[in-house]
Amino acid sequence: ATLDQLSAKFAQKLEGEHVFRGVLHHSVMLTEGTEEQKKFDSLQMSANDCIVATYPKSGTTWMQEIVWLIYNGVDIEKAKQSPLDERCPFMEIAPKIDFITDMQSPKLLKTHLLHLGLPTSFLNKSNDSRPRIVYVARNPKDVAVSFYHFYRSNKSLGNFNRGWNEFFEMFISGYVVFGDWFSHVITWYETAKKDSTILFIKYEDMKRNSLEEISKIAKFLGKDISTEMLETLYDHTKFESMKKNPMVTFAKNPSIDSSISPFLRKGEIGDWKNYFTVAQNERFMDIYNEKMKDTDLSFQFE
Ligand code: A3P
Repeated sequence: ATLDQLSAKFAQKLEGEHVFRGVLHHSVMLTEGTEEQKKFDSLQMSANDCIVATYPKSGTTWMQEIVWLIYNGVDIEKAKQSPLDERCPFMEIAPKIDFITDMQSPKLLKTHLLHLGLPTSFLNKSNDSRPRIVYVARNPKDVAVSFYHFYRSNKSLGNFNRGWNEFFEMFISGYVVFGDWFSHVITWYETAKKDSTILFIKYEDMKRNSLEEISKIAKFLGKDISTEMLETLYDHTKFESMKKNPMVTFAKNPSIDSSISPFLRKGEIGDWKNYFTVAQNERFMDIYNEKMKDTDLSFQFE
């Protein structure tokens, strides 16, 4: 199928799908005009709270565990006592809104929303009364591959059983849940440049200079962290350790079938080379160069 045909197909699908704050979602997400949405928009957060924001498959889970540990004195034993999605819940999931509202400060949350989609209760407040936000971005070719495997293994995403080529078309047209990678990452990046409450971090830097990046995050969050704590944190959150930790792997999540693809799959830079054909890469780079031409943001692909 040509891109136009596919786009038409997904455009049709999009109409009947669930859109919240301009982003395509699955049905468990908040709906405009509901009680839950009102609670979401009146959510109270302070400068002592933190939101981990990402486009999906960019290292969200990894950053959530890091941020939780920074806030909790790198208490590894405590971290092992409850699943990460209870310690740092997904904020736009409708059934969780009361849990999130009732959480004690410091509240740690995760979101895949655009910046403008965040609760109106704190968007317009002054910097010193707004939550800190750590945004993680990953190069889009690895995101696409990781997302492909997520679509295959996650039953709540319409039992996707098509191949990589079809997913590639969906991804470049932006017809995937949580929307278009380019608009997500570029708008967050441009917002972060002007807003000192947002720290913009790249997955590739986290992989290459983990200790440096973790220190930067701790400093941004205003938390002291000793060299020893830093090393413990690094050890606990490296890919090999997290893969063995059932509190972060979504092992008990009934919608994810790990036998199709585990949530912590490879955790590498450059896996896209095992999937993109030469022609797909050329097409992708044309789109990438065009969409990125007005921003100074850039990514490492290997
Ligand atoms: P892969 O599918 O490429 O392996 P998210 O948490 O945003 O859904 O992102 C998931 C991706 O981050 C997966 O990528 C996963 O393996 C990777 N990931 C999770 N924890 C990681 C870690 N500690 N180090 C490196 N990558 C990690």
